[in-house]
Formats: sequence, structure tokens, C-alpha cells
Amino acid sequence: MNSCLASSSHIAAVFLFHCLVIFFLTISNISSSYGGNNETDYQALLKFKSMITNDPYRVLTSWNDSFHFCDWGGVSCGKHHKRVTRVELISKGLEGSLSPHVGNLTFLREFLLLNNSFEGVIPHKLGHLSRLRILNLSYNKFSGEIPTNLSRCSNLRSNKLVGSIPKEISFLSKLNTLRLDANCLTGGIPPFLGNITSMEVFSANTNPLGGNIPHTIGQLKLLRKIQCSECNLYGTIPHSIYNLSLLTHFALPVNRLTGSLPLAFGAMLPRLVFLQLRINQLTGVLPPSISNCSELVIFEMAFNSFSGKVSIDFANLRDIYEIGSHYLHTMASYLHT
Ligand SMILES: *[C@@H]1O[C@H](CO)[C@@H](O)[C@H](O)[C@H]1NC(C)=O
Ligand SMILES: *[C@@H]1O[C@H](CO)[C@@H](O)[C@H](O)[C@H]1NC(C)=O
Ligand SMILES: *[C@@H]1O[C@H](CO)[C@@H](O)[C@H](O)[C@H]1NC(C)=O
Ligand SMILES: *[C@@H]1O[C@H](CO)[C@@H](O)[C@H](O)[C@H]1NC(C)=O
Ligand SMILES: *[C@@H]1O[C@H](CO)[C@@H](O)[C@H](O)[C@H]1NC(C)=O
Ligand SMILES: *[C@@H]1O[C@H](CO)[C@@H](O)[C@H](O)[C@H]1NC(C)=O
Ligand SMILES: *[C@@H]1O[C@H](CO)[C@@H](O)[C@H](O)[C@H]1NC(C)=O
Ligand SMILES: *[C@@H]1O[C@H](CO)[C@@H](O)[C@H](O)[C@H]1NC(C)=O
Ligand SMILES: *[C@@H]1O[C@H](CO)[C@@H](O)[C@H](O)[C@H]1NC(C)=O
Ligand SMILES: *[C@@H]1O[C@H](CO)[C@@H](O)[C@H](O)[C@H]1NC(C)=O
Repeated sequence: MNSCLASSSHIAAVFLFHCLVIFFLTISNISSSYGGNNETDYQALLKFKSMITNDPYRVLTSWNDSFHFCDWGGVSCGKHHKRVTRVELISKGLEGSLSPHVGNLTFLREFLLLNNSFEGVIPHKLGHLSRLRILNLSYNKFSGEIPTNLSRCSNLRSNKLVGSIPKEISFLSKLNTLRLDANCLTGGIPPFLGNITSMEVFSANTNPLGGNIPHTIGQLKLLRKIQCSECNLYGTIPHSIYNLSLLTHFALPVNRLTGSLPLAFGAMLPRLVFLQLRINQLTGVLPPSISNCSELVIFEMAFNSFSGKVSIDFANLRDIYEIGSHYLHTMASYLHT
């Protein structure tokens, strides 16, 4: 009887011990999966600062030991875990390069450095920041290639990036915004972009990309904006694009696109606000169905080889703000009635 009790309490003790072991193992698993600690963040921020060669507005002087790093200018932390979640240094005139140590800020969700003078490469380690949701490095002087593993939202406008759009970008199943405008990218609009079905905005204006628009673009059912002005694109506009009924911005001006627009254009893209195809080599008629794009605001179609009468009913397009009168005037002389 006693031995039974003894053994059952022994079993209970062993059981409790096992629970505790599992509990502590779980805790240690959790903390190790968090990757690093506040000391890592502190070191990473100091390294970031050490690579800044000019700070004209002295925004980084507050980055000193008189304050906890969570109170440094432009730095925000999580309330409880005190890890860096956001770095915002917009238009601060900062010069220098970007330390790869920022790849150690494992809790970083938003990283905004737009409009500074960062140069050199964008560290590949940024691609390891799995919590990063907003990355805006636009309007800097970054050069080299686009890192392979960018996160959900990548804003890399106006830098000096070269090479082609990396294939690894198509593994990012949650990327929704890719802005690459005003860089030196080549290699065309890659067909694998069609695999990023979360994409809502693709903008690559003013890059010497070249090539055709891949028909896989039609797989981006959530796409709202496609903007590729001055991208040296040629060939026809793939018909699959007219499946993207959520499109509000359809802007491919100043390229060498050929072929004609489908008659049902307006019925297929009813939400268009921006329609910009000026300066291409498009032929055929301007589809009258454009009259049904009732939200159209910007309409630029001049300098093409359209023929026939313009029978778009502009009276229907109440919100239209800019027809591009200069272009329309010129267009009139291009039309053969
Ligand atoms: C700890 O993590 C490892 C690997 O991720 C896993 O195999 C193990 O079961 C975890 N242990 C506990 C107690 O959660
Ligand atoms: C990190 O956290 C520990 C314990 O909470 C604290 O003692 C230490 O001062 C912190 N270090 C920094 C750099 O914030
Ligand atoms: C630390 O930052 C504060 C706030 O910007 C500044 O007043 C102070 O001079 C700095 N201390 C040092 C040692 O730079
Ligand atoms: C960019 O930053 C500079 C300060 O360095 C500022 O004068 C300028 O207005 C900013 N440009 C934009 C477009 O915000
Ligand atoms: C942080 O990043 C640097 C450079 O990428 C690396 O050498 C270092 O080991 C990382 N870890 C810590 C804890 O600083
Ligand atoms: C910076 O990027 C974010 C995310 O792409 C975007 O929401 C924001 O509008 C951008 N800011 C500027 C000034 O471009
Ligand atoms: C990209 O991310 C994946 C998954 O997080 C990782 O396995 C791979 O090593 C990363 N590649 C680079 C070049 O950072
Ligand atoms: C798109 O993804 C599928 C499945 O992962 C793959 O088989 C295909 O090669 C990818 N397409 C492109 C153009 O990379
Ligand atoms: C448009 O979408 C439909 C249904 O999703 C599909 O059957 C059709 O092949 C697509 N058309 C083009 C040109 O991609
Ligand atoms: C506009 O849409 C209506 C309804 O779908 C249709 O009857 C009409 O023919 C369309 N107008 C043009 C010019 O395509």
C-alpha cells in the first residue's frame, strides 16, 4: 500500500521533473529561435552608426550611452521585448554605407532610409530579416545588384542598382510591392514575376530593362499597378494582362510596343485610373470601350500609329483630369480617318 503510494508519488515527481525539463527546453528553444538579444541590437545599431560618414543634421548624436537604444532618434522598439522593430531615418542627409550588421536586427519590421546618400551595396543579410514588412531604400545611391532575398515590400527607387531582377525574388510568396524605378536594371521583366501572386504593385519606370512583357504577368490576379515607362520594352502587350481586372494603373509609355488593343479593353479593365501608353508603336483603333473606364483620370495615348476615328465618349469620363491636350492634338494629326 505504502509502496504503492510511494511509487505513485515517485511517478508524480518523475512526471513533474519531466514537465519542468520540457518546460525549460521549450523556453530555451523559444529564446534561441528569437535569435540574439538586446545586446545584439545595440551592437548592430552602433555598427550602423559607425559606417555613417556624414550626419549633417546630427540626428545620430542621440545614439549614445546616455540613453537606452530604444530611445535613440529614429529607433522604435517593442514594448515588452525591447528589441528594435523600426528604424526611420528619412531625408536626414546621411552619407556612408549600410552596415551588414543591420541583418542582426531580427525583430525589425520597418526599415525606412529613403532620401539619404547611402552608397555601396545593399547587404544581402537584409534578406534574412523574416519580420521585415516595409523596406524603403528609395532615393539613395546604392549600387551593385539587388539582394536575392528581399522581403514583402521593397522600395528601391532611384538608386544605381544594376544587373537583373533576381530570380530568388519569386520565392517571396508575400511580396506585394516592388518598386525599382530609376535604376540601371537590365535583363527584361522576368517571367518568374508571374509566380509572385501576392504582387499588387510592380513599378520599374526608367530602367534599360529591354525585352517583351511576359505573358505570366497575367497570373498576378491582385495586381493594381503596372508601371514601366522608358524600359525599352518591345513586342506586343500580352493578352493575359487584360485578365487583371483590378488594374488601376496601366502605364507603359515611351517603349516600342506593337500590336493593337482589344476592342473590349474598357470592359476588361474597368477600374483604370491611369492609362498611359503614349510613345509606342501601337496600331489599330483606340477601343471605344474605353468610354466605360468611368474612373479614368489620366489618358495618354499619343504618338502611336492608331488609325480610324476616335469614338471614345469622353462625356462619359467625368473624372478625367488630363487627356494630355498637347498629345491629343498631335494624335489628331496622326489619325487617318
Ligand atoms: C527544440 O527545437 C528542436 C529543433 O527545432 C526540436 O526538435 C525540439 O523538439 C524542440 N524541443 C522542445 C522541447 O520544444
Ligand atoms: C539588455 O538587457 C539586460 C537585461 O534586461 C539589461 O541588463 C541590459 O542593460 C540590456 N542591454 C542593453 C544594451 O540594452
Ligand atoms: C547624447 O545625446 C544627447 C541627446 O542628443 C546629447 O545631448 C548628448 O550631448 C549626447 N552625449 C554625448 C556624449 O554625445
Ligand atoms: C531629401 O532630403 C533633403 C535633406 O537632406 C531635403 O532637403 C529634401 O527636401 C528631401 N527631398 C524630398 C523629396 O523629400
Ligand atoms: C552580426 O552581423 C555580423 C555581420 O554580418 C556578424 O559578423 C556577427 O557575427 C553577427 N552577430 C552578432 C551577435 O553580432
Ligand atoms: C516607402 O515604402 C513604403 C513601402 O513600400 C511605402 O508605403 C511608402 O509610401 C514609401 N515612402 C515613400 C516616401 O516613397
Ligand atoms: C534566402 O532565404 C532563404 C530562406 O530564408 C535562405 O535559405 C537562403 O539562404 C537565403 N539566401 C540568401 C542568399 O540570403
Ligand atoms: C513558377 O513556379 C513554379 C512552381 O514552383 C515553377 O515550376 C516554375 O518554373 C516557375 N516559373 C518561372 C517562370 O520561374
Ligand atoms: C484569363 O483568365 C481565365 C480564367 O482565369 C483563363 O481561363 C484565361 O486563360 C486567361 N486568359 C489569358 C489570356 O491569360
Ligand atoms: C459600356 O458597357 C455597357 C454595359 O456593359 C455596354 O452595353 C456598352 O456597349 C459599353 N460601351 C462601349 C462603348 O463599349
